[in-house]
Amino acid sequence: MSIDLNKAGELVIATAREAGSYIRKEQRSFSSKQISVKGLHDFVTHVDKASEEFIYSKLKDLIPDAGFLGEEQTSEIEGKDYKWIVDPLDGTTNFIHGLHPYSVSIGLMKENEMVLGVVYEVGADETFYAWGSSPAYCNGKQIRVSTIAKVKDSLIATGFPYSNFTRIDAFNKSMEYFMRNSHGVRRLGSAATDLVYVARGNFEAFYEYNLSPWDVAAATFILQQAGGKICDFSGGNDYIFGKEIIAANEAVMKEFYSIVHKIMTT
Ligand code: IPD
Ligand code: CA
Ligand code: CA
Repeated sequence: MSIDLNKAGELVIATAREAGSYIRKEQRSFSSKQISVKGLHDFVTHVDKASEEFIYSKLKDLIPDAGFLGEEQTSEIEGKDYKWIVDPLDGTTNFIHGLHPYSVSIGLMKENEMVLGVVYEVGADETFYAWGSSPAYCNGKQIRVSTIAKVKDSLIATGFPYSNFTRIDAFNKSMEYFMRNSHGVRRLGSAATDLVYVARGNFEAFYEYNLSPWDVAAATFILQQAGGKICDFSGGNDYIFGKEIIAANEAVMKEFYSIVHKIMTT
């Protein structure tokens, strides 16, 4: 079965933006009493859940028989050719504290390859997207990674560990390296947003351990279509399900990878 990606893409954009409008409206009256705890420093709200239910209801008929992997409650992907991979609210801690960015992230995988990605960043009202062999866009304008070729001239994004501290020593070393040897390190609190900001050239590079497929699937596709390179900490392709990701513009990737690989894997 093959589907019309242009038609699907337009519908996914509309769905992500509608979910984002709901999230924006809910934030205005959000109270900290509405937080539930999933694990150490891992929070969920009725907004994450309702956003996922809404997205599921919109996507389920678009490709009959597609699987769906959502962060909050849905996992139906075994044996499916097409799979939606969805984070209904990436950046829940930011959302809880009334701070941007936070995003809606919807990706589509076909036979284990990403074919479509949409990330809607609610705060700036920016929709990042790509599908098929198209370039990447933000709000209708083509985007491209930066051409900065040295780590010393780069701005680096990452996510700090908050519940899984198994690699904290190596991570701290990597942070010190980049603090001393780059333009600086940023922790925005939304991995999907970090990755699309690499795609647009705001950041040169991004790395994080312990992310989940829904944090990265859509944005990695957008980044590749914008000329970016992505791998796991050993240079392989297991960066969606493998809980390790290194992403960068093409020019700086070799140097950035060798630093992260060396510090994080030895
Ligand atoms: C989180 C964000 C954050 C990253 C965390 C993720 P959530 O997603 O992407 O930047 O550091 O590891 O879990 O929980 O807000 O959807
Ligand atoms: Ca997430
Ligand atoms: Ca989430």
